[in-house]
Amino acid sequence: MSQKRKFRSLEWFDSPHRTDMTALYIERYCNNAFTYEELRSGKPVIGIAQTGSDLSPCNKIHQQLSPRVRDGIREAGGIPMEFPVHPIQETGKRPTAALDRNLAYLGLVELLHGYPIDAVVLTTGCDKTTPALLMAAATVDIPAIVLSGGPMLNGWLDGDDLIGSGTAIWKMRRELGAGKITEEEFLIGASGSAPSLGHCNTMGTASTMNAIAEALGMSLTGCSAIPAPYRERMGMAYVTGKRIVEMAHEDLKPSDVMTREAFLNAIAVNSAIGGSTNAQPHLHAIANHVGVELKPADWQVHGHDVPLLLNMQPAGKYLGERFYRAGGVPAIMWELREAGRLHDAPTVTGKGMLTNLDGRESKDREMIHAYDDPIVDQAGFVVMTGNLFDTAIMKTSVISKEFRDRYLCNKGDENAFEARAIVFEGSEDYHDRINDPDLNIDEYCVLVVRGAGPIGWPGSAEVVNMQPPDALLKRGITSLPTIGDGRQSGTADSPSILNASPEAAAGGGLAYLKTGDMVRIDLNTGRCDALVDEAEWEERKKAGPLIPPESQTPWQELARNHVTQLAAGGCIDLAIKYQKVRDAIPRH
Ligand code: FES
Ligand code: MG
Repeated sequence: MSQKRKFRSLEWFDSPHRTDMTALYIERYCNNAFTYEELRSGKPVIGIAQTGSDLSPCNKIHQQLSPRVRDGIREAGGIPMEFPVHPIQETGKRPTAALDRNLAYLGLVELLHGYPIDAVVLTTGCDKTTPALLMAAATVDIPAIVLSGGPMLNGWLDGDDLIGSGTAIWKMRRELGAGKITEEEFLIGASGSAPSLGHCNTMGTASTMNAIAEALGMSLTGCSAIPAPYRERMGMAYVTGKRIVEMAHEDLKPSDVMTREAFLNAIAVNSAIGGSTNAQPHLHAIANHVGVELKPADWQVHGHDVPLLLNMQPAGKYLGERFYRAGGVPAIMWELREAGRLHDAPTVTGKGMLTNLDGRESKDREMIHAYDDPIVDQAGFVVMTGNLFDTAIMKTSVISKEFRDRYLCNKGDENAFEARAIVFEGSEDYHDRINDPDLNIDEYCVLVVRGAGPIGWPGSAEVVNMQPPDALLKRGITSLPTIGDGRQSGTADSPSILNASPEAAAGGGLAYLKTGDMVRIDLNTGRCDALVDEAEWEERKKAGPLIPPESQTPWQELARNHVTQLAAGGCIDLAIKYQKVRDAIPRH
């Protein structure tokens, strides 16, 4: 391996013009853990962007993995420097962890730019940690590699029930509403669904985004699905540490790996795994920062007709451990490769994606179906438009037969129906009124929530997966269609129209919908419209966009003033122009 490349860290440790500054940098890093000689030796300094902490239990495994990452870095001749990333815990941060994706992104950009770091290991896991770190690596464009923390072990209840984290909560809250379980049983089941360190063991947003990182070519082959506590996870940490040092010497950057072809591969993989609807804004955000053009229509064109191959909750039956044993993401991508649905693209392994997949066919056909024997045909998102929004998406792989049959008698077409809207102003209003008998909610209603987007919430909340009122649950109606300008948990199994852009607070049509209006949803044409007379609709628009609640922190106000809509990734608008930041060496 060539040691010739002059790394940017030498601008700190061996600056030809400013001996005084060099002395300052060196004395303080030497009193820490390093020697004068090694800092000036020309070895690359490798950052380990640590996302694990007590506040971030989904990523806490990385505190155990990082010593092995360091071993790998040292072994390959690099200098490891570990530092904390702003925590983003999906289930802990209020008003929503989504608000912090862009904050962690900004923080990491500043760290990678302003400190002597030549390449970085991105420790990913919980939902937003993966996109936040990939977005920052894309902006700075120093060599970067993803190390997933991996999912938890499978959840078990009463000895024999596979229960998945997140998905079990949505199921049990319906059972609670129907009076089938007590609150204590609910809590016992919830704990049972999360039995170890790791991120969600279902194909929620965490497993989805880690699979997507791998599909983008940003992690070593097979990295994402290894369960957090497995010994193979430690091994992956070590080889990832070794590989990033080679990447530093090769100067293999995020912009070399995350090409448009890589993004199209990620969209196809998302359909095949029954991935989270949150993948849409996150993937667009990463693309924005690396300078690749991605449009909402790409999900329809490159993703919709890809079949569901993975039998994992919430779209299927099983959980993360079996996914790993069945071959993980490479086995899914092998199917796509054989079907001609994959592009070749450079990856962090140094080889092309198609080559990485050699020999990765699954032997577990209950878990990973062959491309020509899928679980569901055309399992990707439907991209929708209409007078309620310009763009929204719907995940069709979770629409049940019972649901389709119910609406078949409505319009004579299982893919098109009309429903009476029940409109809620945010999730508090939903919880206050969902069981109000005066709303007269029946199985032909559509539940609508607004004020849940990037500006309205703020941050865009996972509140669109609203369950039916208790009276319907008791009659066995477990889902109603829902529409919202917020998001839905990746672990949810509701037939929902999500991420509506523009949101009501930005003047989107949802702001003008009223309870009692009829809404027509047509999955054949991708239209979703309020059936309101045109003149009346124009009259309602005079009221203006929804006025959101006051900001409670400085960041909320800053974010609201600069965030883009979900269809465009929910990014900080002014950040997008900053690309290849590493070429701009900061002043002393
Ligand atoms: Fe963190 Fe699901 S809540 S991964
Ligand atoms: Mg979530």
